[in-house]
Amino acid sequence: MLERLQSITETANRELESAVGLEAVEALRVKYLGKKGELAGIMSGMGKLAPDERRALGEKANVVKAELETKISAAILRVQEAALEAELKGARIDVTLPGRGRTGGHRHPVSQTLEDICAVFARLGFVVEQGPEIELDWYNFEALNVPADHPARDMQDTFYVDGNTLQASHANPVVLRTHTSPVQIRTMLNQKPPVRAVMPGRVYRKDSDQTHTPMFHQVEGLLVDTKVTFAELKGTLDAFAKAFFGAKSKTRFRPSFFPFTEPSAEVDVSCVFCSGKGCRVCKQTGWLEVLGSGMVHPNVFKHAGYDPSQVTGFAFGMGVERLAMLRYGIDDLRTMFENDYRFVAQF
Ligand code: PHE
Repeated sequence: MLERLQSITETANRELESAVGLEAVEALRVKYLGKKGELAGIMSGMGKLAPDERRALGEKANVVKAELETKISAAILRVQEAALEAELKGARIDVTLPGRGRTGGHRHPVSQTLEDICAVFARLGFVVEQGPEIELDWYNFEALNVPADHPARDMQDTFYVDGNTLQASHANPVVLRTHTSPVQIRTMLNQKPPVRAVMPGRVYRKDSDQTHTPMFHQVEGLLVDTKVTFAELKGTLDAFAKAFFGAKSKTRFRPSFFPFTEPSAEVDVSCVFCSGKGCRVCKQTGWLEVLGSGMVHPNVFKHAGYDPSQVTGFAFGMGVERLAMLRYGIDDLRTMFENDYRFVAQF
């Protein structure tokens, strides 16, 4: 029996060394160490032996069993490594393939444009000021020299806020600001001249079509000092247009009207799509209307506590979505607010 044990060890070792694959190793484990395996066969015959022989054989069988277990573990490791290597060679895993890129998030095109506008003015020395979106009628209209019977006050354009919740009175209703110009008043009431500030933010109007949404963004600008001239207004806005739309851009100032500026001007920039030759976007004029501006009206200074005989200044306001549309060639404003991932992912 001892001899049989010895020969089992030898054949088992040989077979384990040449085994290929996990299944083959497992089959050998069953063959030798399984319940009905070779070793179990020998053990079951031990009862017939004399006590001395039985002990000797038992000891030897245990040693053989331990040895086989070690060999089997080693064989399992060997075939696993071989399988991995074969897989790499067979290029089922191609480690040279370029990785899959991750798409990072980014700012919404409106936020990007708003930040870019403010950054241009920051380089010109303008600080950023902010004011409330829910505003007293006085700041939104009255202090800006918008007379009570001005069409802009019509219920058609302005959202009025329920007076009960905001302690509004009939004499001083509460509105969602229709422009960022009330921040001019708040800024001047808060500090002495000089002022050099831009005021970005949301504004609200009762409007909704392809080029108007009930909420949109504006950037207001205000510069007040002694002896500020219209030439400085022109120089500043021309510098802005060149920084924002490109160095070759030209500007054009057309007489216009705003209650809070006098004189007032509408500013056009040479069409960014056709460079002024005339196209569908600029309706063949070669020019795009981009902002409103003017010299601050004396009445506005009076309401804001500034002495119009001491200071002069200019102000301007622009629509952020409109500039973003021109910059990216978007023709429907509403796509900006639908937050369709396929749209925003393009910027
Ligand atoms: N507040 C004006 C508007 O919303 C823009 C503007 C601002 C015009 C400042 C002149 C000066 O249309």
